[in-house]
Amino acid sequence: MHGFKTIIEPFRIKSVEPLTLTTREEREARLEDAGFNLFKLRSQDVLIDLLTDSGTGAMSAEQWASLQRGDESYAGSPSFFRFEAAVKALFPFRHVIPTHQGRAAEKILFSVVGGPGKVVPSNTLFDTTRANVEYSGARGVDLLPADARVPSKRLPFKGNLDVAALERLIAEVGAAQVPLVLVTVTNNSGGGQPVSLANLHAVSAVCRRHGIPLFLDACRFAENAWFIREREPGQQDRSVTDIVREMASLADGMTMSAKKDGLANIGGWLALNDERWAEQCRNLLILTEGFPTYGGLSGRDLDAIATGLGEVVQHDYLRYRIRSTEYLGEALERRGVPIVLPVGGHAVYLDAAALLPHVPALQYPGQALAVELYREGGVRSCEIGSVMFGLRPDGTEAPAAMELVRLAMPRRTYTQSHVDYVVEVVERVAARANAIQGLRIAEQPRALRHFTARFAPWRQSAVAECAA
Ligand code: F0G
Repeated sequence: MHGFKTIIEPFRIKSVEPLTLTTREEREARLEDAGFNLFKLRSQDVLIDLLTDSGTGAMSAEQWASLQRGDESYAGSPSFFRFEAAVKALFPFRHVIPTHQGRAAEKILFSVVGGPGKVVPSNTLFDTTRANVEYSGARGVDLLPADARVPSKRLPFKGNLDVAALERLIAEVGAAQVPLVLVTVTNNSGGGQPVSLANLHAVSAVCRRHGIPLFLDACRFAENAWFIREREPGQQDRSVTDIVREMASLADGMTMSAKKDGLANIGGWLALNDERWAEQCRNLLILTEGFPTYGGLSGRDLDAIATGLGEVVQHDYLRYRIRSTEYLGEALERRGVPIVLPVGGHAVYLDAAALLPHVPALQYPGQALAVELYREGGVRSCEIGSVMFGLRPDGTEAPAAMELVRLAMPRRTYTQSHVDYVVEVVERVAARANAIQGLRIAEQPRALRHFTARFAPWRQSAVAECAA
């Protein structure tokens, strides 16, 4: 399909799911009920759901057919062996341990390798990953170069880990305290930005020199590999599969959420080479997930993932996938909406700090903007800023590095006209940006507060009244 300007959705629709239209008054009421936390909405009250690209994609006809092939034997199911073979075809690690989703793999891994005094360096740990590192008593350290934290700066591999900073950190804490380095591909919290092969080679060399294992948080590995193929010198003629295998060859293990580039609605895995760690992980798996040949998944889920892994590396799919995200980003950029540049793989990130400069970080400009997108047009997005990252384990609060709102694109789910509608909604909200007020937190848990906190509008006058 080369030579045409329009990059079409490389599929047609066989089964449709109706969307519900709500009125502005209804959305106002739903927002009040939800304490202005979009995670608390009922999804039927959402028109276009860009909360996450995790588990929200459409499966292919082949994947639905795979569900029938699923074998539900407790131990040694053929579904497991198909799953294991599909994983190893891309990531030939010795041990492949299925889990019900990515964070289960993280919990098990960091229960084994984490603990007080340990330090886990990363380009950026995603929220559940950081929480699992910290829950074990270890400290997570994000090592992103300063450039990569400037939303408007266009760099081809803005997910790259700062290698010099990694060297300094290892020298400071000692290699013995670093159980592994975790590179997130693509870097979700930093804007869905890719990591280059060159950077992976450099990080891997540092790790090997110090005897530290390198792990990938590989949720969006195929999108990352596509960016490498598109942007990295000398990679243009390679297949994505080949690039993925090279990424894997530089690492000693991985955690994975099959809800992203597994093209499945649930699932994940932990894969690694180390025999001793694998045994410890399997023992924990049996405690919380299940027997090692199903790990919290049904046989049919394992088969859906196995088929999905074959589809996600196809170039026609990836060309459409990356282009459709870029299409949304370009349309917003043309309308002067500040976004993280370049556009990432799975999402467009609005720069709420730039759009709402009058709202201080701890009045949560990202959350305020996300609320307005829902109020305006029933579009659900997700704050990635001081709500998500601002609360420290000791209970104090500090602004996050960036105040972003993520418009995450479910895979193979929405069409171009849905995206055009989203552009219109964002444009309308941006036009009244200077009238948007911040929020305050009315109620929150001690960790991962973004899922359950309740907010209330920040009213300067009300605060002044209280003070008086
Ligand atoms: N790592 C990254 C980079 C992720 O983006 C996620 C999930 C996980 C790990 C955890 O995987 O959800 O299967 O337990 N991210 C989702 C998101 C939730 O919306 O970005 P999980």
